[in-house]
Amino acid sequence: MDLLIKNARIVTGTESFESNIGIEGGVIVSISPTLEPSGAEVYDAGGKIVIPGGIDAHTHMELQVTGTKSADDFYSGTVAAACGGITSIVDFVDTQPGQTLLGALADYRRKADSKVVVDYGLHMMFKGQNLPEMDRIPEVVRKGVPSFKVYTAYKKRGLMLDGPDISRVMRTVAGAGGLVAVHAESERIIQRLIEKNLAEGNTEARFHAKSRPAEAEAEAISKVTRLAREASAKMYVVHLSSRAGREEVEKARRSGTDVFAETCPHYLVLTDDVYERKDGRNFVMSPALKKAEDRAALWEALGPGGVVETVGSDHCPFPSAEKDWGEEDFTKIPNGVPGTEAIIPVLYSEGVRKGRISMFDLVRVTSWAPSARFGLAPAKGSLSVGADADFVVIDPSRRVRMTADVMHSRIDYSIYDHITTEGYPVLTVSRGEVVMEDGEFVGKRGRGRFLPRRSAA
Ligand code: URP
Ligand code: ZN
Repeated sequence: MDLLIKNARIVTGTESFESNIGIEGGVIVSISPTLEPSGAEVYDAGGKIVIPGGIDAHTHMELQVTGTKSADDFYSGTVAAACGGITSIVDFVDTQPGQTLLGALADYRRKADSKVVVDYGLHMMFKGQNLPEMDRIPEVVRKGVPSFKVYTAYKKRGLMLDGPDISRVMRTVAGAGGLVAVHAESERIIQRLIEKNLAEGNTEARFHAKSRPAEAEAEAISKVTRLAREASAKMYVVHLSSRAGREEVEKARRSGTDVFAETCPHYLVLTDDVYERKDGRNFVMSPALKKAEDRAALWEALGPGGVVETVGSDHCPFPSAEKDWGEEDFTKIPNGVPGTEAIIPVLYSEGVRKGRISMFDLVRVTSWAPSARFGLAPAKGSLSVGADADFVVIDPSRRVRMTADVMHSRIDYSIYDHITTEGYPVLTVSRGEVVMEDGEFVGKRGRGRFLPRRSAA
């Protein structure tokens, strides 16, 4: 045995019990209260909680956007992930002009392999330029990338597909056994409001939110879930942000659509009043933050049977100097915020400790459900014998103010610095190796591995 975790309060998706965990060769070899060290390194987890490592199935490391790229590369982004208790990420491959789907996939593998500090999988973004390669979808699935993201918005960036093309992608992905992710916001509603606001001289950050109301999300979800039902496709709505959107997902499920939703930590702890702040630009992401009632609806939907089955971060940060490009026009603000390091602290401190969700819910939405939905089980997502030794130790008494200097993203601010947590991850173990201890990254660059995924559950 290489490592023994003693006196752990283990929480899985359904049980909580005290035991010791034995690790050898990167996998869990025993879970037993009588387990002895027999020469292994020992970590005493007395008084702490041990849960499966988080799976953040929504990141954008070094994503090329107009004029820049997201501030975290696959090294700094996965360091941030590890420091927040995330042991696997799934990033989105974005094809560059002139690249093929497989060329872009190879390019992402090249960029990520030498840098990642935790394990990673990939989804494929499927946008206008990819339409001629629809027949390549089964090959991409066979390469371990069985999920494809389509957009109902961002026409100018070339990301948006129209209804018939989304239907074709859905049928092809379903035929290949894959999953369709949808960024669901109505381009029609958004563009009308952006044009109106700019024409009226409403250029500040708060008009970003006013141009992307909940109805834009709800309308798009209503439309794409109908397309998914007609195509017999499994789909999920990425970054759900509103009550109205949640209701559309629920309605679609009742009509027989195989759909679930993901939300992000920022929608759970922030509301659109932050856009009134002087630094409001730093909070600009799409969909935009909504109201307190939307935030409450998302917490509710994380409970058992709720439609929000996973929490991903949509990690895509930009430094404040780049956010300032939109000082005189909110449409010029690079969209995206940090988040991978915040998922577990936010869900634990703001969720479990405040009675909004249970510890079982936290484990289900951060590890068990993403591993099942994204084809990573049984190696990932559970604390069980034979699974990869990926876990995080939370100290319920650790108070941390989530300021920029304690977070590991390569940006100069934190959108979470209003939160002082009750409890925080203090140890992250990835395939049996300690990668974070007491807030310090202690792993090695490039140690993470690519996770070829099977078709989703
Ligand atoms: O605002 C968001 N969601 N940014 C992430 C990157 C993107 O363009 O989807
Ligand atoms: Zn995203």
